[in-house]
Amino acid sequence: AKKAVLGPLVGAVDQGTSSTRFLVFNSKTAELLSHHQVEIKQEFPREGWVEQDPKEILQSVYECIEKTCEKLGQLNIDISNIKAIGVSNQRETTVVWDKLTGEPLYNALVWLDLRTQSTVENLSKRIPGNNNFVKSKTGLPLSTYFSAVKLRWLLDNVRKVQKAVEENRALFGTIDSWLIWSLTGGVNGGVHCTDVTNASRTMLFNIHSLEWDKELCEFFEIPMEILPNVRSSSEIYGLMKAGALEGVPISGCLGDQSAALVGQMCFQDGQAKNTYGTGCFLLCNTGHKCVFSEHGLLTTVAYKLGRDKPVYYALEGSVAIAGAVIRWLRDNLGIIKSSEEIEKLAKEVGTSYGCYFVPAFSGLYAPYWEPSARGIICGLTQFTNKCHIAFAALEAVCFQTREILDAMNRDCGIPLSHLQVDGGMTSNKILMQLQADILYIPVVKPSMPETTALGAAMAAGAAEGVGVWSLEPEDLSAVTMERFEPQINAEESEIRYSTWKKAVMKSIGWVT
Ligand code: G3P
Repeated sequence: AKKAVLGPLVGAVDQGTSSTRFLVFNSKTAELLSHHQVEIKQEFPREGWVEQDPKEILQSVYECIEKTCEKLGQLNIDISNIKAIGVSNQRETTVVWDKLTGEPLYNALVWLDLRTQSTVENLSKRIPGNNNFVKSKTGLPLSTYFSAVKLRWLLDNVRKVQKAVEENRALFGTIDSWLIWSLTGGVNGGVHCTDVTNASRTMLFNIHSLEWDKELCEFFEIPMEILPNVRSSSEIYGLMKAGALEGVPISGCLGDQSAALVGQMCFQDGQAKNTYGTGCFLLCNTGHKCVFSEHGLLTTVAYKLGRDKPVYYALEGSVAIAGAVIRWLRDNLGIIKSSEEIEKLAKEVGTSYGCYFVPAFSGLYAPYWEPSARGIICGLTQFTNKCHIAFAALEAVCFQTREILDAMNRDCGIPLSHLQVDGGMTSNKILMQLQADILYIPVVKPSMPETTALGAAMAAGAAEGVGVWSLEPEDLSAVTMERFEPQINAEESEIRYSTWKKAVMKSIGWVT
């Protein structure tokens, strides 16, 4: 039987650190009609190094698109109704490839990778002028997190990359650029572009002029000809060149955290969201103003939804390890077999019994920016078991969010009255309740947690020349909200939080 009449459909690729997804939404209601997800391998060739295979990532995108289209077919939904595709992606992760062969010249250096620590130390000694040189242009502290130093490492250490640059064959990109170039034809005319949100995470982009910054490129010694063209987050970049959706325009592109901000409709100054993925990222829209933090937050481009549309900025609290700690319990300790099992273990005990887990696997990001930190589990007794450790891991995600929320409240002056959340982990009810208890404000989550993909789909559907999504609240009628109220008293919440802070102090300075 034919399904009820649908509005035009929009697809979204959500290429995260842990997995790739393709999702298809009804543009009239934001209803999620079908999706497919594939987990992505991470390689840790040395202590602190994190790599991924760009070709596996690309392959996973094709696989997700094909499988989602098959599922739509089984639902009797005609895939020719898909009018546009948006791309959202893990940010900062760095790829260099050969434009003549289409081959990556090295694995992707993932945002979490720490190999550039000495590069960062050396660069920080020769910052020109005042210490604010990088931050005032980019909104970012000089850190291993961002692409410029990863690209510097590839140029310094990988002969194939050096040779390709000399021979004018090298292209640089974050994952969005790699995917869009490949999906729009690759060696046969692929479009080499990125959007302002992804560009703003490279540490080479001037967030005021919205252009690659010549002085920054000189400082990092990056050849500007390998950089992609910077476009808005919502415009037609090119057409899909192969597969079930051949010919469909790719017309939305946003770093995943910006996409989630759009998907949560945080379009007003002061509206914020927190997304729980591999890491955890709290972004607050600051409108057309670049607000610089005094409490360890980043200033970043939030979105620019069209070539002639104004740019919006955000303050961001970035936490490196959130969902990744659950994957670590599964893959490294083997105390759970699937990520969902964590909720069962935590529920069995309902407390960490004084155990605190600081998962500073990649140092600490906001608000500390401490590369010297490493993970610790403390407060153990002979009574402690794996359930307490599981509970402490969930609490760690909530405490880290509390730290960035406190910083955000101090920078913005007006404390958030509730927290809008999204991302895969928000289906964990224990986590959501703990989060409300630890923040001591209500936590509000959408019924459909795939807000990142929704934001990318909205940007793609709203693009000039596509025009199937209006970005008005009525276009999200399928999304309902669930609310978690704090259930412990404020004093208990404060005691737990101050013990967490003690644990954090012990994790800092572990490596020098
Ligand atoms: O900045 C890194 C961020 O974009 C990664 O997102 O969803 O993989 O945690 P996610």
